[in-house]
Amino acid sequence: MGMIETFRSVVELREFERDRAQRRLRKAADVDDLRRIAKRRLPGGVFDYIDGGAEDERSAQSNVDGFAKIEFKPRVLNDVSDVDTSTTLLGKQIPLPLALSPTGFGRIAHSQGELAVARAAQRAGLPYSLSTMGTRSIEEVATVNSGTKWYQVYTWKDRGLVEEMVQRAKACDYEALLLTVDTAVLGRRERDVRRGFTLPPKIGLDTIVDGALHPGWTLDFLRNDPITFANVSSADGGDGSSTAVNLSQYINSQFDQALSWADVDWLQSIWDGPVVLKGIQTVADARLAVEAGCEGIMLSNHGGRQLDDAPSIIELVAPVADAVAGQIDIICDGGVRRGSDIVKAVSLGATACSIGRPYLYALGAAGEAGVDHLLEFFAEGFSRTMQLCGARNVAELTPELVRWK
Ligand SMILES: Cc1cc2nc3c(=O)[nH]c(=O)nc-3n(C[C@H](O)[C@H](O)[C@H](O)COP(=O)(O)O)c2cc1C
Repeated sequence: MGMIETFRSVVELREFERDRAQRRLRKAADVDDLRRIAKRRLPGGVFDYIDGGAEDERSAQSNVDGFAKIEFKPRVLNDVSDVDTSTTLLGKQIPLPLALSPTGFGRIAHSQGELAVARAAQRAGLPYSLSTMGTRSIEEVATVNSGTKWYQVYTWKDRGLVEEMVQRAKACDYEALLLTVDTAVLGRRERDVRRGFTLPPKIGLDTIVDGALHPGWTLDFLRNDPITFANVSSADGGDGSSTAVNLSQYINSQFDQALSWADVDWLQSIWDGPVVLKGIQTVADARLAVEAGCEGIMLSNHGGRQLDDAPSIIELVAPVADAVAGQIDIICDGGVRRGSDIVKAVSLGATACSIGRPYLYALGAAGEAGVDHLLEFFAEGFSRTMQLCGARNVAELTPELVRWK
């Protein structure tokens, strides 16, 4: 055999990928890679709004770091040829214990915004949560997603507005309400303070250079309808369509700082499905959520965007599960970056995990295809880690499987 033939027989040339988003995704092996691509493609202010946390960003970081403090105690020779990754969350069977957390302003990452994420979530069979601060409406999202959807509630001082949104969610077959309880006032996100960041982002003189350096994003932004808070009527002082708002001023004037357990009762009285409290951070409050008759809690510090030095979420899972497991579903929200993180959280007692930033990075990196790529990465990683740990189904994920380093 001549040299050329030998070379041909061992080297298979990779096919050229014509689709640019797919070309980018080929190089994205994990969430960090998607984050890097998003950072390159999005204007600095937009990326920092998504990526940042409150104050010194210690909680944002410790959410992620917490998972690295756990090791597996893998069992072997267990016949893992047939692994069942499915589980039940809020009474619904889902293909793996993962949900998508609500995030506001999806359209700043990509013009399709919440619609792209909702479609990808349905394809993956995972619950999608729409934020009150979403930039696609309750009805629009329902049109593209007939799967499991949840609606996240922020409590405006004007309860009529809240009630109206809840009725719209009911009419559109959203299955659960997530009441966010960690946002009495907005956390101080200092990256946004430094940049004078507003929503929607202003393309002004100060940001024109940033815009010009990110032409893909800028064209997408300018070619599409103005970004608005699609679920909040303008009667209450701005839906973002005419004026850009400073988020902390807006939220601090509209949200009700008087929110209390009585409002949890009120919300249950106007909704017949499950109510989940998002932002529980102590065993004591987890117990109160059970007493209040809630179906679920999301252990969450809002991705470290509210109170800095709030506890690392994965470290809360075991103590909370010891107190309330079996009485209420427990969702571990914050810092989940791999399928193996879901294995760790479920082993410690969580019913499921949920993710925020990972899908926003994916959306900024490659649009809807990016979110498909990300959800596949989580599903594949969850199943592989189960096999490597010798677990054949979710019931076999127990505290025996992990230990704190
Ligand atoms: C850009 C961004 C916007 C968010 N908007 C909301 C929101 O509107 N309502 C809400 O309850 N949580 C919101 N969150 C918090 C997420 O629901 C979730 O708790 C958090 O992102 C989980 O942490 P992770 O980003 O490490 O996965 C937001 C988070 C991010 C990053």
